[in-house]
Amino acid sequence: MSRSIFLLFVVNIPLLIAYSQPDPRGYLLNCGAGKQSGETTVGGLKYITDEGFISVGNIATLKTPDLVPILSTLRYFPDTSARKYCYVIPVIKGGKYLVRTTYYYGGFDGGNEPPVFDQIVEGTKWGVVYTTDDYVDGLSSYYEIVVMAKGKTLSVCLARNEDTKSDPFISALELEYMDDSLYNTTDFTKHSLITVARSNFGSDDDTISFPDDKFNRVWHPFKDINPIVESHSNITPWDFWNVPPAKAFNTAITTSRGKTLQIQWPPESLPSAKYYISMYFQDSRTPSPYSWRVFNVSLNDKNFYIRLNVTTSGVTVYSTQWPLSGQTQIVLTPETGIPVGPLINAAEIFLILPLSGKTLTRDVEVMEVLARMFNNPPPDWSGDPCLPEDNSWTGVTCSQGEHIRVVTLNLTGKGVSGSLHADIANLTALNHLWLGGNKLSGNIPEMGSLKELKTLHLENNQLEGQVPQSLGQLPELKEM
Ligand SMILES: *[C@@H]1O[C@H](CO)[C@@H](O)[C@H](O)[C@H]1NC(C)=O
Ligand SMILES: *[C@@H]1O[C@H](CO)[C@@H](O)[C@H](O)[C@H]1NC(C)=O
Ligand SMILES: *[C@@H]1O[C@H](CO)[C@@H](O)[C@H](O)[C@H]1NC(C)=O
Ligand SMILES: *[C@@H]1O[C@H](CO)[C@@H](O)[C@H](O)[C@H]1NC(C)=O
Ligand SMILES: *[C@@H]1O[C@H](CO)[C@@H](O)[C@H](O)[C@H]1NC(C)=O
Repeated sequence: MSRSIFLLFVVNIPLLIAYSQPDPRGYLLNCGAGKQSGETTVGGLKYITDEGFISVGNIATLKTPDLVPILSTLRYFPDTSARKYCYVIPVIKGGKYLVRTTYYYGGFDGGNEPPVFDQIVEGTKWGVVYTTDDYVDGLSSYYEIVVMAKGKTLSVCLARNEDTKSDPFISALELEYMDDSLYNTTDFTKHSLITVARSNFGSDDDTISFPDDKFNRVWHPFKDINPIVESHSNITPWDFWNVPPAKAFNTAITTSRGKTLQIQWPPESLPSAKYYISMYFQDSRTPSPYSWRVFNVSLNDKNFYIRLNVTTSGVTVYSTQWPLSGQTQIVLTPETGIPVGPLINAAEIFLILPLSGKTLTRDVEVMEVLARMFNNPPPDWSGDPCLPEDNSWTGVTCSQGEHIRVVTLNLTGKGVSGSLHADIANLTALNHLWLGGNKLSGNIPEMGSLKELKTLHLENNQLEGQVPQSLGQLPELKEM
């Protein structure tokens, strides 16, 4: 099944060694831990409860003995009417974050098969969460994406889809701030990077993560039938834009002198798409003027890099948009006369996910103000109000295309109380405003700027005061 491709196994539970930088650089949320739980500190690194980052869902604790604390609690979402369930996390606007979601079902709802559902980040459908195969094998599952924060908060949401048969849930949510240079050849205003694989070639060890990886990325061991060689010197991570951990260079896959090295990597068959790929190499010998080797790097018979000179300081080569589909083969061909075989230490591959448009920031801000001023907005009134199109806020419809705007706001008969904030006048693309049959109180705000407004319903509320005169002058208004 192709959608399980992005499922990476958490065999050695890297969650045990996660950490949190000073806010708001990163957050490690232990979902469903409850209000009183405080921090779960493991090895000096702290997870906090997800309370306060989400206002919907119920919490549950698994009875399975000996579970990692992070996996033993979860938050689940029984409300079938909500179009999405969102975490909203404070971030640095324009910052680049690695977002990791972790799922361990554990039969929390008395069933024996995990639900299938969607995950959404910053208004873009990220993918389908399918954890059944891992669960059958007794494993948790995680997904990772590198994404730029559009505003001062970043939203990560779950949503039901046509295959969802029971309540979506989540065990942990991690956000890690990525320094500017990481993956910086990608235009994060247009794309996100979904992790497909991050491998440490030739390693016997457990996975590498924090503190070896400054950014808490997880590097999985990868071996095949080719010989393995150990490195005799260390690289300096900060010499590389992507700051790979020095430990990822400790071993390499190689072959004998004069031979071509072929590696099937990543092991999974890939869906046809464009990928960001970076490979890391280091000459394994003791540093000396002669410790270098030269080879060609190709992927599926296409040149990736010609005559790469690999020294003991290490080198990386990457492609920003490389089309791949199906099986991938890395081929390293040595230049003639080189006394040692080619080698590779580590590699990363990400699927490039184009972002679905952008909702006008001003409309987003106004909708957030409206949501705050209502006492009981619909449960899905958080995250992006318009995106993805199938998961807009209840009662909200939007224009499509490049500049996405709110065009309809319809909460007829939803039992909403609270007041209508004057900023509603900033929703200048609004065509239909239907708020009849609620418990709204306070004044009717000035809405003279809603030049596109065609229909307006405010009847059957507890609104007070005069109907502003400017409403009579709206050019398009046909129904009030
Ligand atoms: C990426 O970061 C490196 C190191 O800071 C910098 O030299 C380089 O110009 C950056 N590249 C882009 C495309 O921003
Ligand atoms: C490879 O790099 C080393 C160290 O910089 C240098 O001495 C050597 O001449 C280079 N080899 C080739 C073929 O360029
Ligand atoms: C490396 O690639 C270049 C360009 O395709 C080619 O001319 C050269 O012969 C290749 N070297 C080897 C050893 O295959
Ligand atoms: C609405 O517009 C007014 C006037 O331009 C501005 O002061 C206010 O900040 C806007 N509110 C929002 C939420 O964008
Ligand atoms: C608003 O919702 C009500 C109740 O669901 C419906 O009858 C009405 O047609 C909707 N109005 C618009 C403009 O969609």
